[in-house]
Amino acid sequence: MAPRAIIPQLKTRERQSSSNVVWSATDLTDSPHAAPDKAERVRAMFAGIAGTYDLNNRLHSLGRDQAWRRRAVALAGVRPGDEVLDVACGTGDLTEALAAAGPATVTGVDFTAEMLDIAREKASGRPGRDGRPTPEYRAGDAMALTFDDGSFDVVTIAFGIRNVAEPARAVAEFRRVLRPGGRLVILEFSRPRNRLLRGLSGLYCDRIMPVTASWVARDRTGAYRYLPKSVASFLDREELTGLLTGAGFADVSENQMTFGIAVAYLAHVPGGASGGPSESGARIQRPGELE
Ligand SMILES: C[S@@+](CC[C@H](N)C(=O)[O-])C[C@H]1O[C@@H](n2cnc3c(N)ncnc32)[C@H](O)[C@@H]1O
Repeated sequence: MAPRAIIPQLKTRERQSSSNVVWSATDLTDSPHAAPDKAERVRAMFAGIAGTYDLNNRLHSLGRDQAWRRRAVALAGVRPGDEVLDVACGTGDLTEALAAAGPATVTGVDFTAEMLDIAREKASGRPGRDGRPTPEYRAGDAMALTFDDGSFDVVTIAFGIRNVAEPARAVAEFRRVLRPGGRLVILEFSRPRNRLLRGLSGLYCDRIMPVTASWVARDRTGAYRYLPKSVASFLDREELTGLLTGAGFADVSENQMTFGIAVAYLAHVPGGASGGPSESGARIQRPGELE
């Protein structure tokens, strides 16, 4: 189905939730990142799968997804008094894990109302206690954040940068809203470098998961066909690291997890009271540092 025929059908939230086709097989012949209406499609897709998103994450990561998020939180080095922003927060799993680390505030931003509804429900079921703040959720666009320059000590984005229409614009925004000494953590899927593991993971991600995840979600949007295509055609590790250093981040490191299926990138804003890194550069994780 041609994009123009799809998107007008998705004008209202009710229709977005009814899981119309967003990514047809033809749409995914080329890289989904090149679609001129990628943002509208991504929003419609997440609106369609919001209700089963967490369940599919647990099932299809074989229970690893929350461990990846906890590792991202540990890398961010959240301290008491920190102000933390979780961009593309979705249903709030990383936002909740950040809150559990005990910063002063945690704000989650996302542009899909249906995902934010679930995040807010989670937060209302877990009121802040023992120095743990209750996350505040706001609708917003990663490429045009509505926060002043230097508002946060930590910015995170998990499985979101790949879905943003223009990742470079979002990274520039992360740099802008971080204070000197601030930390950025990007958690994103990758493909294992080992050929055998890469083949096995390709079989699972390209052939098995799209069928089983679509069945669990009763999905017709094509979200789980888009997922492996969007990973395979996204920036590779070197390109993403280059994007971060090019945006003015320093001391960028790659931290791979579960054989390289997920990678957490840690980047620093130079300066700050903690004497953060002063020179640009990228550091690749040593084999012994793998999860
Ligand atoms: C795969 S989900 C990740 C959700 C969550 N971070 C997690 O760890 O499960 C990607 C999210 O990115 C959001 N998103 C994509 N592009 C966005 C943008 N430009 N601004 C804000 N949110 C965006 C989608 O609405 C979706 O909720």
